[in-house]
Amino acid sequence: MSIEVIRTPAKLRERAFSLRGTGSRIALVPTMGALHEGHLSLLRKARPLCDTLIMSIFVNPTQFAAGEDLDRYPRDESTDLALATECGVDIAFCPTPRDMYPEGYQTRITLPKLAAPMCGAKRPGHFDGVATVVSKLFNAALPHLAVFGEKDFQQLAILRQLNADLDFGIEILGGAIVREADGLALSSRNVYLSAEERKQAPRLQQGLQAAAQRFAEGVTDASVLLSAARAIVGSAPLAQIEYLELRSAKTLEDVREVTEPSLIAVAARFGNTRLIDNLVLVP
Ligand code: PAF
Repeated sequence: MSIEVIRTPAKLRERAFSLRGTGSRIALVPTMGALHEGHLSLLRKARPLCDTLIMSIFVNPTQFAAGEDLDRYPRDESTDLALATECGVDIAFCPTPRDMYPEGYQTRITLPKLAAPMCGAKRPGHFDGVATVVSKLFNAALPHLAVFGEKDFQQLAILRQLNADLDFGIEILGGAIVREADGLALSSRNVYLSAEERKQAPRLQQGLQAAAQRFAEGVTDASVLLSAARAIVGSAPLAQIEYLELRSAKTLEDVREVTEPSLIAVAARFGNTRLIDNLVLVP
């Protein structure tokens, strides 16, 4: 069956409402398009868990700060729709910015604590934009469950909190990071990398693995684990580290000693391209 494309929140909500009326279990996978294996793995995870699989494709302008890559963010709707069809998506929701933010639009959702550190500190307003658009997607698609990638670990933590705080009652699932053969986490932004940047980018993952190795040897001191990671990431001449931090995987608060599941997360720029990666250390 061919994929159904819906372009306005009102139409999607009407469709979702009637699907719910027939007892259909709805899953939502929100994306900004430029689909790669990471996105497809989220679709494959959701597919057997629902009757109706909805995927959104929307490059959300409110989560890009001025000077970020909104204009050059890769867009290829027809390829995305073909890939989504192969993964069994029933409905693709592809609104325009005007559909999502009509004239007079003014609401923003803020999670001051979870959005403060890491990517939130480097990209002011980013997570307000994410929380707001995802709330709108939840209200339009009326999903029973939604799947988000664990590469954006902070985003996932924020969306779980949002779901609880605003009583959406949606089951939120995380999908494991998908990597290239050399360890680089898949990202729609990898296409921006020059050949030399691409060669050095796996150092992010290698740095995290070096910390995981020290942790496996019994080291729990955050500063020692971070030094191990920094030595490797910092050895990539083109990497400008934005942050490299160890935080509670639950609260995202700083940890000095890994005594609970802890997130080691890195963001670095390779030229104009900003990449992130993470892994969770579990004592
Ligand atoms: O992770 C993303 O691609 C985006 O932040 C999301 C969740 C689709 C919201 O625009």
